Amino acid sequence: MQEKQSIHGSWANRWIFILAATGSAVGLGNIWKFPYITGENGGGAFVLVYLVCILLVGVPIMMGEVLVGRRARQSPINAMREVAKESGHSGKWSLVGLMGVMSGFMIFSFYSVVAGWVLYYVAGMGKGDFVGVGSEQAGAIFNNLLGDWQSLMIWHTVFVVMVMAVVAGGVNKGLERATRVMMPALFVLLLLLLGYSMNTGHFAEGWNFLFKFDVSKLTWDAVLVALGHSFFTLSLGMGAIMAYGSYMPKKASIGGTVMTIAAMDTLVALVAGLAIFPIVFANQLDPGAGPGLMFVTLPVAFGQMAGGQLFGFLFFVLIGVAAWTSAISLMEPAAAWLVENFNMSRKVACVLLALTVWGLGILALGSFNFLSDFTIFGMNTFDFLDFATANIMLPLGGIFISLFAGWFVKKKVSLDELAMEENNLFYLWYISIRFIAPVAVSIIFAINLYQKLV
Ligand code: PHE
Ligand code: NA
Repeated sequence: MQEKQSIHGSWANRWIFILAATGSAVGLGNIWKFPYITGENGGGAFVLVYLVCILLVGVPIMMGEVLVGRRARQSPINAMREVAKESGHSGKWSLVGLMGVMSGFMIFSFYSVVAGWVLYYVAGMGKGDFVGVGSEQAGAIFNNLLGDWQSLMIWHTVFVVMVMAVVAGGVNKGLERATRVMMPALFVLLLLLLGYSMNTGHFAEGWNFLFKFDVSKLTWDAVLVALGHSFFTLSLGMGAIMAYGSYMPKKASIGGTVMTIAAMDTLVALVAGLAIFPIVFANQLDPGAGPGLMFVTLPVAFGQMAGGQLFGFLFFVLIGVAAWTSAISLMEPAAAWLVENFNMSRKVACVLLALTVWGLGILALGSFNFLSDFTIFGMNTFDFLDFATANIMLPLGGIFISLFAGWFVKKKVSLDELAMEENNLFYLWYISIRFIAPVAVSIIFAINLYQKLV
């Protein structure tokens, strides 16, 4: 039998797949979101739950997504339909892919706003606006930015266009090229910053905050946030990794690549935390400060350090690049689907998608200024989009994908795609995806729902 190929192209080799998927995974979730939600949820105990979720829920589900994508070699919506039919089930499974595309739009809209902040900081650092700033000044600069909807709009627009340009280029000339250059550079710069933070004299405080497991601080709310974040950070539950898997070479082993991607993502999050918290404590800032945490601490650190203007500039450039490679994977599933189903050129598809996420993004950025009085379930639009996707839609998508891969895809198909024998390793995955992942996610959902209602 001839090997099936995606009409969109394929990664040159397994390392490109690892790099591209790591580019999707490593993003604002690691450098911006992980430190601030860890801060809000009291540190160590939260980190422990997060790590357990990555291992027991994230890794098996990521394997499931890659296997379904690679089997069908189509966009997630069509892949779910195809693989369901191949195994003798209803094509309605494509609805899970459709929900994923919607989650992707919603994530993109607030992601792009934060990426816009990053771009503003790139410009600010470059101009030297942060040289010598203390924490109060840095806080004021950030708050002024939030209040200025025109600046937010400009940077949000720039980011959407950047993403659109790459996705329009296609898998090889767009995605692959964009991914492989900047990931190693990001890693090097993160280590440099870590080196700096180790010299603030408060490294131990930061370390303890992250790794001292004080279980008494744990609430069911925090567990839900940790679970949701494990989906968000690994780009799971919405089809991004499934789409990337559909371009994966047949020969590559799914288990090994997925473990590598998850390990790199986790490493970057922990290093980001180790870089940021010592600076927080050195400057008597509040670790629970919320979304602004990184945008206040880092400028303070760079503002004081020798060569800080240059390093700060480079560092925000690299956060921007990390956000860029992630947002590309937010747009790719929908773009591939439009090309497959509507006979549309990739360029036209990308323009349509960009306009949609751009519009939604305006609602998100308005939360900080012209829409600040508007709330949904007591949250502003930005928080609502974040909460609804990370804590509800992605875990829900994850439950469906795990049930699908675990119970509906034929065992023979899974064995074949995972290139595995029926050995203990296979059964470890099989038990995780059939029982552990869906049951754990459902229980955490149920408890949170119960607590909200009672
Ligand atoms: N994983 C990305 C991050 O951590 C966010 C993302 C979520 C990207 C879902 C794609 C899909 O920043
Ligand atoms: Na991530």
